[in-house]
Amino acid sequence: MSSKRQILVTNALPYANAALHLGHVLEYTQTDVWVRFQRMRGHECYYLSADDAHGTAIMLKADEKGVTAEQHIADMRAIHEADFKDFLISVDNYHTTHSEENRAFSELIYNRLNKNGHIAKRDITQAFDPEKNLFLADRYIKGTCPTCKTEDQYGDNCEACGATYASTDLINPVSAISGATPIEKESTHYFFKLPEFTEFLKDWTRSGAVQPEVANKLGEWLDSGLQEWDISRDAPYFGFEIPNAPGKYFYVWLDAPIGYMASFKNLCDREGIDFDHYWNKDSKTELYHFIGKDIVNFHALFWPAMLKSAKFRTPTKICVHGFVTVNGKKMSKSRGTFINARCYLDHLNPEYLRYYYASKLSGSVEDIDLNLEDFQQKVNSDLVGKVVNIASRCAKFIANGNEGVLSANIEDPALWTQVSGAANRIAEYYESRDYSKAIREIMAQADAANEYIAAKEPWKLNKIEGKQQEVQDICSLGINLFRVLLTYLKPVLPSMAVASEEFLNDSLNWDSVQQPLTEHRINTFKPLMQRIEKDSIDAMVAASKEEAAKVSTANIEGPLAEDPIADEISFDDFIKTDLRVALIIKANHVEGAEKLLQLTLDIGGETRNVFSGIKASYKPEDLEGRLTVMVANLAPRKMRFGMSEGMVLAAGDKKGIYLLEPDSGAQPGQRVT
Ligand code: 2FM
Ligand code: ZN
Repeated sequence: MSSKRQILVTNALPYANAALHLGHVLEYTQTDVWVRFQRMRGHECYYLSADDAHGTAIMLKADEKGVTAEQHIADMRAIHEADFKDFLISVDNYHTTHSEENRAFSELIYNRLNKNGHIAKRDITQAFDPEKNLFLADRYIKGTCPTCKTEDQYGDNCEACGATYASTDLINPVSAISGATPIEKESTHYFFKLPEFTEFLKDWTRSGAVQPEVANKLGEWLDSGLQEWDISRDAPYFGFEIPNAPGKYFYVWLDAPIGYMASFKNLCDREGIDFDHYWNKDSKTELYHFIGKDIVNFHALFWPAMLKSAKFRTPTKICVHGFVTVNGKKMSKSRGTFINARCYLDHLNPEYLRYYYASKLSGSVEDIDLNLEDFQQKVNSDLVGKVVNIASRCAKFIANGNEGVLSANIEDPALWTQVSGAANRIAEYYESRDYSKAIREIMAQADAANEYIAAKEPWKLNKIEGKQQEVQDICSLGINLFRVLLTYLKPVLPSMAVASEEFLNDSLNWDSVQQPLTEHRINTFKPLMQRIEKDSIDAMVAASKEEAAKVSTANIEGPLAEDPIADEISFDDFIKTDLRVALIIKANHVEGAEKLLQLTLDIGGETRNVFSGIKASYKPEDLEGRLTVMVANLAPRKMRFGMSEGMVLAAGDKKGIYLLEPDSGAQPGQRVT
């Protein structure tokens, strides 16, 4: 074997604002298989991850939950760590970007960029929410598409017609956070001078650091000219304040990749590892980042350029994967195919999915389809039907015939050489992340083993006098072939590998594959994997649907769950309702009415008499002089106590009634839209 390599590996750090789903699991599986393979080959390989804990989205999520950002990210981290563990992801350290290590490295790197003249500072104008006092990124602005006039579109592109535009082009733009109309406001921002790294990046992206198709895409961006990168955000922002720039924070994407270093530093401090040995600019160690295709610009442009300026080593390779589709389509909440990691784990064994993903991953950026029928079929046929079957068919003859001790002979040396001789080929496939080829090769060898056993029919031989030793020899080879196959599969199926080690009374190492077990005692065989039942998949899909429905109501407002939104109406329907600001001039109890108050309303030169069911929440004397909103063109209704000439607007349910009130300054009679 080549000399011992020193390798650092990371996966993209998940945002601390949402649960992990099967798309995340694809990446962690891809990374974990590679890491476990490297460790099995005797290399030193540290696998680092963390929660990506900063940014506006996380700040707003914490607000929505009514907890501090620190509490929110701590809760999310615990959930993510449990998901990682239960999917058998063997990270050496799981940290957070909201850590002292990350603050220190972010400041250090920024200070170096600044000192090297790679930071620019200038004023820019941006949309601002005057109610929340918050600058608004495009995704927090909604309005009508200037091209096709579809309402409720985000600030940078229209989902209906695909047009892209500036948020200032939207018709009737509103803040998606408060509903207020955004204003334009100036503020000072800090920029990383990325264009100065164009030549460096042209070389670096063509040096084998990314897959060829990724290098081509990056080449297009590099040829069309890079822009300076805005790395600052104004307060309020959950993140790290920029040194010597009060009220200015590092944009989340500035400190997120630095989180890789921070997670490693945290491990180094705990275990006495030499951090600089791995990160100094001339380091001979290797650094691999596994990421999805949507975040290539951050990892293959900004990140290496920052490291270059700050005099740290650059990554050896960025390994980019595609997205997960389910049954050939984008994951969908309504179809129940947006499946959270935990929901999967509640219904199915993590190794089924690890195996299925591995059988599809080729090291390219193509999307991976999780076809649920194919998933069930492939796992059952390959793992249960082929691999486990070898052991279960042979084990009982060894246990009964020779008290669990394997033969001294290799019954079919050619077959043994063929199966154990596949090790290097399979290792190359793992190394180049072409796991699908590795799995295909392993299954071809499993087929050969099964054909051998089927042809030899030890169960028939066993009934023939004098053939017992032959049975022992055949089944001993069967067990040895099983051992080789499980060694090959160990990076993908770590838990089944442990159970097999217990059965084989041996540890499965890449190097010992060439040496068969002879005259070796094995343990009692226990079933290693159950078949996937269709019922479990159906139950998982049903649970995902239910979960998605619950979240969509719970996330907006509690009462929606009991009182769902009414059928859609057109804008023309809505505009028929004439809402006006009304001043309550007088409010009286109504003799004999349990719930009603009688209101006299001024709507700007006209008075109205309205009966309103708000008595449970308001005393008449408290209402006089207040402004509210009324439906002014509602047909008058004759009531037991008199004529009601309109309706006042109030929010309410069993728990309380809340009269609507415009902000002070509104005038009686003003139209409300
Ligand atoms: O896209 C994402 O989910 C980001 N949270 C990934 C960050 S990767 C790294 F830079 F931290
Ligand atoms: Zn449009």
